[in-house]
Amino acid sequence: MRLQARATARLAGRITAPGDKSISHRALLLAAMAQGETRIEGLLEGADVLATADAMRAFGADVERRAPGAWRVRGRGSLAPPAQIIDCGNSGTGVRLIMGAAAGYPLEATFTGDASLQKRPMGRVLEPLTQMGARVLSSEAGRLPVTLAGGGLRAIRYRLPVASAQVKSAILLAALNADGVTEVIEPQRTRDHTERMLRAFGADLATTPHDGGGAVISMAGGQTLSGAAVRVPADPSSAAFPIVAGLLAKEGEVRIDGVLLNPLRAGLFETLQAMGADLAIDNAREESGESIGDVIARPSRLRGIVVPPERAPSMIDEYPILAVAAAFADGDTVMRGIGELRVKESDRIALMAAGLKACGVDVQEEEDGLIVRGMAHVHGGAEIATHGDHRIAMAHLVLGLAAEQPVNIDEAGMIATSFPGFAELMRSLGAEISEV
Ligand code: S3P
Repeated sequence: MRLQARATARLAGRITAPGDKSISHRALLLAAMAQGETRIEGLLEGADVLATADAMRAFGADVERRAPGAWRVRGRGSLAPPAQIIDCGNSGTGVRLIMGAAAGYPLEATFTGDASLQKRPMGRVLEPLTQMGARVLSSEAGRLPVTLAGGGLRAIRYRLPVASAQVKSAILLAALNADGVTEVIEPQRTRDHTERMLRAFGADLATTPHDGGGAVISMAGGQTLSGAAVRVPADPSSAAFPIVAGLLAKEGEVRIDGVLLNPLRAGLFETLQAMGADLAIDNAREESGESIGDVIARPSRLRGIVVPPERAPSMIDEYPILAVAAAFADGDTVMRGIGELRVKESDRIALMAAGLKACGVDVQEEEDGLIVRGMAHVHGGAEIATHGDHRIAMAHLVLGLAAEQPVNIDEAGMIATSFPGFAELMRSLGAEISEV
């Protein structure tokens, strides 16, 4: 389905964004590995997470949807050999975390995904898992499909070569069933949902500061998880789209309830505030061990800034929408240290540069960076090839709401991987988004 976004002066209303994708994957996975029953509220029912739910069934867990967002999982305390190939669809998080978890058990499993996922690097998890004793029975050039044989693992001390919560999480999940104490050193901190949730499921692990901004996470193997109650907060990476739309509008106020504000995820909010955004947090609270709050975005005149490269891990999925905000700012916004964006669902540096240029924005693409020269009036008037990337699609629709001429995206189907109901929710705020 093609979608078109047209200039919309006023955006106003109060909405709830869907559940956090990172936490949703982890909730299903830990629940399947745990003994006993887990109840999950607010689960993201996007395609990525539904693929993880199916995978957990294939590994022997009893996974049941009881009402919208309300799921019950009965785990067996371990994963069993799956009878079928595990297809994680578009989800890098799903496949990397599940491979880590599966490596801990004496089983063989084959993993695959869609065309985008088959192009993404898996060596970054296969390497440490192999060091722990897992065997890669087949994989071409570290890409999916991968067949893995697990069990009999030993602990490792591993320094992450890339700032990746997925790699850290894969190692920690394997480490649960490894002999000895595993230590993961992260030179730059990355989202800590796995650590928080492991604790909520009864595991004992320690996080200690390391070398300035980093951390060491250590955990002994041989621990059993027990089922828990999980409440999934709204995904800040999804909330980012209506928030930036609210900032770029001329009138109104957009309020998003119960957004996850974990500091390791909140880099975009910090950046937008530094750009002069009128963003407020209301009703800040703690829920299920995570900080959440209602985020209020009002029309703002933004100015370009240099985004500190060390902030990248806390907003890695938000650069596409930040680039859109930057297009409307006064002056240049410099985003560097973001080479990882080239190996996400698409090459997001290349696609944002191409999309913004097509809409009349002056952009400079670098190997690991993007510089956007903001302008008061963005022309728009382009058809964007999203290459099956949900965030590229949503970012350009938000651009179309603030540009002078309509912006089309070639295919909207993939938005449902992370944000089912995106267009409807945006329309409820007044956004002019329609099928063309
Ligand atoms: C995620 C980690 C990030 C992020 C992804 C979700 C996670 O990837 O881009 O959308 O849930 O751990 P990396 O850890 O590979 O940077």
